[in-house]
Amino acid sequence: MSRTFRNLMVTGGAGFIGVNFIRWLFDQPDGPARIVNVDKLTYAGNPLSLLDVEKRAGDRYVFVKADICDAAKMKEVIEKYQIDAIAHFAAESHVDRSIVRPDEFVRTNIFGTYTLLQAAREHASQIQLFHHVSTDEVFGTLGDTGFFTEDTPYAPNSPYSASKASSDHLVRAYHETYRLPTTLSNCSNNYGPYQFPEKLIPLMILNALEGKPLPVYGDGMNVRDWLFVTDHCSAIWRVMTRAAFGSTYNVGGRNELPNLRVVEKICDLVDAKAPPLPGGKPRRSLITFVKDRPGHDRRYAIDCSKIERDLGWKPAETWATGFERTVAWYLSHFEWCAQVRSGDYQKWIATHYA
Ligand code: NAD
Ligand code: DAU
Repeated sequence: MSRTFRNLMVTGGAGFIGVNFIRWLFDQPDGPARIVNVDKLTYAGNPLSLLDVEKRAGDRYVFVKADICDAAKMKEVIEKYQIDAIAHFAAESHVDRSIVRPDEFVRTNIFGTYTLLQAAREHASQIQLFHHVSTDEVFGTLGDTGFFTEDTPYAPNSPYSASKASSDHLVRAYHETYRLPTTLSNCSNNYGPYQFPEKLIPLMILNALEGKPLPVYGDGMNVRDWLFVTDHCSAIWRVMTRAAFGSTYNVGGRNELPNLRVVEKICDLVDAKAPPLPGGKPRRSLITFVKDRPGHDRRYAIDCSKIERDLGWKPAETWATGFERTVAWYLSHFEWCAQVRSGDYQKWIATHYA
């Protein structure tokens, strides 16, 4: 069994994973006829990342600047573009920001997901699938051993992960109660091109390049399971096109690494690819241990055997190939990096998408 879709709505398609998903999907033979990207363009959303796609795809791509909490607008988009499937990425996604200002996380991640689910439910004869993109952080933290499976009880520890857990429960409830055709994926840490440089890997690449301190939280021994972003995209598409309604799938790279090792590897790659620092000192010398993140989950590790077994999915990249590609991408996209980090970017959005 493999589903096909005509008009796919992608929420948050101007963010890191959404951009990669749209770019990746336009290259697939079984992609939808049209993609409608609905994004509010917060600080994390960047339509620049899709300018070339916009030109190439013509009528097959539409961008709508909108907030997923706006029920009337969601209804309008679903009707105007005859949406038959929704891939829901839009979220506030950064744990550190959620610790400082949880309100937007509750609003977008919980109320926004509810608003979309409700809009889908109100168009039940039209919507063939609602796919919810979620995170392994809903499962909380692991000790030195063990893996998260689809049956691991939820135990979120940050306002971000609590808001994502809540949205997952709403998706489950809309399937159980209203028979909305849903699928859900919980993925580990992504990295790759177009990631906003507040997250560990792009932040470290750009700081290392510029000779700035590389802030490592706590003892640097917190472990994450790293997945190259297009491997996440292919997993989502497998689930969307082949998984049973109401099912959930864990997605991970079997690439567990402590943060300190990640930062050291980034330093070595930047040393190898970029001009040397003054005095020729190695970038590892920039590593600076700083105060730990409150409630910092110690270890994430995904058991992805269900998606491998049921849907035949496998990641294409290892951390070694993926880190190399990622560092090379950031070192060759200075303009993108400068724009997303500058205040001018907000002005650019105001003129282009008013
Ligand atoms: P991101 O922060 O890079 O992008 C989020 C996008 O959502 C941005 O384009 C932003 O403008 C948009 N957005 C935010 N609030 C909105 C609103 N109210 N209405 C419409 N659009 C809004 O995030 P990302 O890293 O691309 O993550 C995408 C999804 O994947 C999220 O749901 C996240 O929880 C999930 N996820 C991320 C990772 C990861 O490692 N980055 C891993 C697993 C799951
Ligand atoms: O596991 C999936 C999650 O991965 C996603 O759901 C989130 O949206 C995504 O942001 C990511 O969350 P993390 O908190 O794991 O990612 P982040 O890049 O913020 O941090 C990765 C690890 O590195 C974490 O243990 C904290 C640490 N860290 C992070 C930053 C930004 C540092 O040591 N120094 C830093 O400056």
